[in-house]
Amino acid sequence: MTVDLKVQLAGMQLSNPTVLASGILGTTAQLMAKVANEGGAGAITSKSASVKERKGHANPIVVDALSKGWFLNAVGLSNPGVEEKAAEIAEYKRLTKTPIIASVFASTAEEFGLAAELISKAAPDAIELDMSCPNVEDEFGGLFCLSEKASAKAVEEAASRVPKSIPIFAKLSPDVPAIELIARACVESGAGGITAVNTAGPGMAIDINRAKPILANKYGGLSGPALKPLAIKCVYRIRAALPDTAIIGTGGVFSGEDAIEMMMAGASAVGIGTAAFYRELTVFNQVCSEMTAWMDANGYNSAKQLISKAHE
Ligand SMILES: Cc1cc2nc3c(=O)[nH]c(=O)nc-3n(C[C@H](O)[C@H](O)[C@H](O)COP(=O)(O)O)c2cc1C
Repeated sequence: MTVDLKVQLAGMQLSNPTVLASGILGTTAQLMAKVANEGGAGAITSKSASVKERKGHANPIVVDALSKGWFLNAVGLSNPGVEEKAAEIAEYKRLTKTPIIASVFASTAEEFGLAAELISKAAPDAIELDMSCPNVEDEFGGLFCLSEKASAKAVEEAASRVPKSIPIFAKLSPDVPAIELIARACVESGAGGITAVNTAGPGMAIDINRAKPILANKYGGLSGPALKPLAIKCVYRIRAALPDTAIIGTGGVFSGEDAIEMMMAGASAVGIGTAAFYRELTVFNQVCSEMTAWMDANGYNSAKQLISKAHE
């Protein structure tokens, strides 16, 4: 049996459902193109950019405990600014045809609008609003995506300043009691899709030999396998509330079977971040081969058949 992995995502045609998550290998045009052309990703998300350049947090910025199933990061959204990022995206588009989702973040709704407008000049296939990074919370006075009203306003600002042909994805946090309410508010304000989820927490790890926190920022967003059950729940609840919305299910996807589970929960496509540290750049090809083998053995011939299967 031949297995067809193609999916559609808010008007984008993806050769397979895997999407590079924002912040991992998404820094330069060349690296993003390599993830697409050699790694096999069906779409790329660039690292989040803000209107002005940001330095990010001091080292150490990650705790790699993947042998125990988790990873913490407190990168602190370092980026060269949205205009430089737009140039990277334009360059990426010369190197590959694989769709690119441009991620932006901001500290006010108006600034989300400006960042989205500036990045739209590079004609990305979609724009993702990172409204949910947990390790800069204090600085920005709380996450946008904790409030329906704040999320809706950020989406509304962005949607009003970007050509209608570019769908806007709202990237949400798992750290809310009812993520589907936030997702619905975003869609009603003009979001064409939802990315669920960003890292959870933040969490903390202590070096017992030094009796000190490991991260210079003390706290960092939790990702990797430990995040997957939360992400599956979030995607399942969003899909139940919004049957027709494009969803990029992200959080702890390391294998083809993880990706299948995420799609059965309701994801239209599957974000992969931390796994790229563990299984390297070709993780996307590996996940696709594993999906194909499982689908072939279990009587599925199209990835589209997996979407929302657990809701039937
Ligand atoms: C090192 C690192 C940097 C990240 N940077 C960003 C970022 O800039 N913007 C964003 O929206 N998410 C960022 N994330 C979150 C990921 O895109 C993803 O939502 C999260 O890690 C869960 O997926 P995973 O378990 O597959 O990594 C980052 C994650 C990691 C591990």
